Amino acid sequence: MELEIKTLAFGGRGVARQGGEVWFVSNALPGERVTVAEERRRRGIVEARTLEVLSPSPWREPEPCPKALGECGGCDLAHVAAGFREKAYKTSLLGALRGAPEALRTAVEAAAFFPSPWHYRLRGRLHWAPEAQVLGFYAPSSHRVASLEGCRVLSPGTLALLPAWAESLKNANLPAGELEFLEDLPGERRLLLFRGLFSGELPRLPGVDGFWGIRGRGWGQRELTLELPLPLTVPVGSFVQGNRFLLAELWRMVEGLVREEGFSRVVDLYAGVGFLAAAARFGEAQELTVVEVSQRAARAARANLPQARVLSMPAEAAVGQGALIGADLVILDPPRGGLSPAVREAVAAAKLSSLLYVSCDPACLARDAKVLMDAGFAVRWAKLFDLFAGTHHVELAVLFQQT
Ligand SMILES: C[S@@+](CC[C@H](N)C(=O)[O-])C[C@H]1O[C@@H](n2cnc3c(N)ncnc32)[C@H](O)[C@@H]1O
Repeated sequence: MELEIKTLAFGGRGVARQGGEVWFVSNALPGERVTVAEERRRRGIVEARTLEVLSPSPWREPEPCPKALGECGGCDLAHVAAGFREKAYKTSLLGALRGAPEALRTAVEAAAFFPSPWHYRLRGRLHWAPEAQVLGFYAPSSHRVASLEGCRVLSPGTLALLPAWAESLKNANLPAGELEFLEDLPGERRLLLFRGLFSGELPRLPGVDGFWGIRGRGWGQRELTLELPLPLTVPVGSFVQGNRFLLAELWRMVEGLVREEGFSRVVDLYAGVGFLAAAARFGEAQELTVVEVSQRAARAARANLPQARVLSMPAEAAVGQGALIGADLVILDPPRGGLSPAVREAVAAAKLSSLLYVSCDPACLARDAKVLMDAGFAVRWAKLFDLFAGTHHVELAVLFQQT
């Protein structure tokens, strides 16, 4: 079957129409003619993979990671050249935002783009397959673990250590599970957390300063410090933005906004260990309220920002207790599902002037933006951060202000 690809869907597949059906084709880019093999078909939707690219797009990376899209499922947009990533993200985001308010779509089209070099990951989850003695990412649509030799997203330091770790994990009889890693900014120190059932001793591994299990047994350090303008301590297993190169750009966005607008009272509703709140503090915010549901992350936020009011509770409870009252700026960086109905309604109803919404899911952003804009917010600008280079995921920050 031969297809002409019309656009790029959020998720990384090229989209074509043929015989009244919509085809979603992996490893295919807008403007390309490709031959494809069908993988699944359901109610007018066909999933397929590219067999041959007959007329390549100028977006196509001439030397993509040889394992991407076949052996390893870690990077589903490795076939887009670095210089065309912005175009690829904007195309797929605008598709996902088709039903969103026009002002949001216009801002995304005009968004400043912050690209990332390779070897950016300072946090991530690897899968451990003891029978194959492999640590890596899953293969596409499979639970087979692919090895990571030559990987372009992990740091060279961690990559070099993987074979020795696999050997030690095998000798320790560690069962299958997830191994979360956290590195410092230069990629020189690292901690590990094993997410799996294991009651034995976690082994000493080369290049690792601490290795913990989810039940709290382990050895060594439990947290690392990221040397940002205000140092940020992060416990292994807590959320922190995973791109070592773009932390500084996210920081500058928040610091600059707070400084330029003279925001004094800032509320961060999904604060993690306090990264964005710390940038607001550095931008001279005087009163910080930091909300975080995970107790471990909230404890770290308290240590990172001793002057802040830290509410260790769900955002839903915090807004119910009046956390938004008097805020000049509310930062919303929710998990992938976006705002819950309770938070969405509370934010829309509160008398707020400015909201900075950081999103990795355009469909949820579109849903939340509609409610906010119906409540009188307008989009001031959007910025696009290449936090997950090589994949279809991208981080979109949008500033909403009351009209
Ligand atoms: C995408 S992360 C953002 C963290 C932080 N803004 C940063 O840049 O590091 C989302 C955070 O929200 C927390 N979270 C998830 N659901 C929550 C809720 N209902 N209320 C408050 N925090 C929540 C998670 O534990 C996580 O730390």
